[in-house]
Amino acid sequence: MENRENSTRAGVLARYGARLPLTKDTPMISLSEGSTPCIPAPRLAATLGLSSLYLKFEGMNPTGSFKDRGMVVAIAKAVEEGATCVICASTGNTSASAAAYAARAGLSCLILVPKGKISKSKLLQAQMHGATVVSVGGSFDTALSLVRSLGAAYRVAIVNSINPYRIEGQKTAAFEIVDELGQAPDLLVLPVGNAGNITAYWKGFVEDKAAGRIPSTPRMIGGQAAGAAPIVLGHPVESPETVASAIRIGNPASWKQALAALGESDGIIDMVEDEDILSAQRLLARAEGVFCEPASATSVAILGRLLSENRLPRDSSAVCVLTGHGLKDPSVEPHGHSSIDFDGDLAGLAKACKLVPL
Ligand code: F0G
Repeated sequence: MENRENSTRAGVLARYGARLPLTKDTPMISLSEGSTPCIPAPRLAATLGLSSLYLKFEGMNPTGSFKDRGMVVAIAKAVEEGATCVICASTGNTSASAAAYAARAGLSCLILVPKGKISKSKLLQAQMHGATVVSVGGSFDTALSLVRSLGAAYRVAIVNSINPYRIEGQKTAAFEIVDELGQAPDLLVLPVGNAGNITAYWKGFVEDKAAGRIPSTPRMIGGQAAGAAPIVLGHPVESPETVASAIRIGNPASWKQALAALGESDGIIDMVEDEDILSAQRLLARAEGVFCEPASATSVAILGRLLSENRLPRDSSAVCVLTGHGLKDPSVEPHGHSSIDFDGDLAGLAKACKLVPL
């Protein structure tokens, strides 16, 4: 058998176990998560007027989002601690990931989602993996408060990012960026919803600096959707609304930690309109060949906004985190795209497609 121990295919626990809170009793679960590519984006960098830009494409994880790298740790620790059932609230990706890793580990999985507010693909993933799905009237925030109540009264392990093992696993994305680029970028740009991921990246970079792997940490740059921007506005949003359903959150659980990361890193958090999120999504797809879901494109949209307002230096190096795959959300329209119906006329077809004759 091949030796997978040190291979990037071995998964987060094998690759970064020494920097995670594992014990000899932690099961080495893996779906080959992590080790996602950091893709250079020269065209996009030129369009934005930035000297260097990489895309950390977390959509390449086994369930199609960054959640897998934290979920593998949370599920392994739940098994180690004797849990038989895990529970989470979700805007879709956490539930897809929890369901997959629970299936892998032989645990049952209960997920609470805002009714009618999550993408069909993400719901399908949870259902295919055998999770019990509960639809909750209200927003993600309502679902999360129910999860907290159930977790306090019943034998279930909560695997939302309020579970510190999730943050531990997600910090490995920062390690990977440093390992792959040989240094930290000037700017780490990401979408902010429940604020677990910004907390996790910051923890990872701080640990890398403490260990002497990097001389300095990046500035953390967060983007929220204008209709769901509690941290930017400084107060919870009762009924969050945005096309980026993954970050439709009005009262982030890790709000305080996000503010700490922003403060300590000289970071910036601001918001972008839905139309800017969707045009960033198309730009990524058409200029760089990378298809991410709307929430993920918030990173590129906020970077574009801050650069255009001269709030960031153009000679910066940046990594934009693309948190989930574009196939996760088939509800978006391929704006400006028209397909051609073939009516049996080959020459007419060639002309319509602007093909050049031999
Ligand atoms: N991008 C995507 C694709 C997400 O699914 C999420 C969160 C975020 C960004 C924001 O990350 O919450 O750590 O600030 N999705 C959660 C879920 C809430 O339930 O799947 P965050």
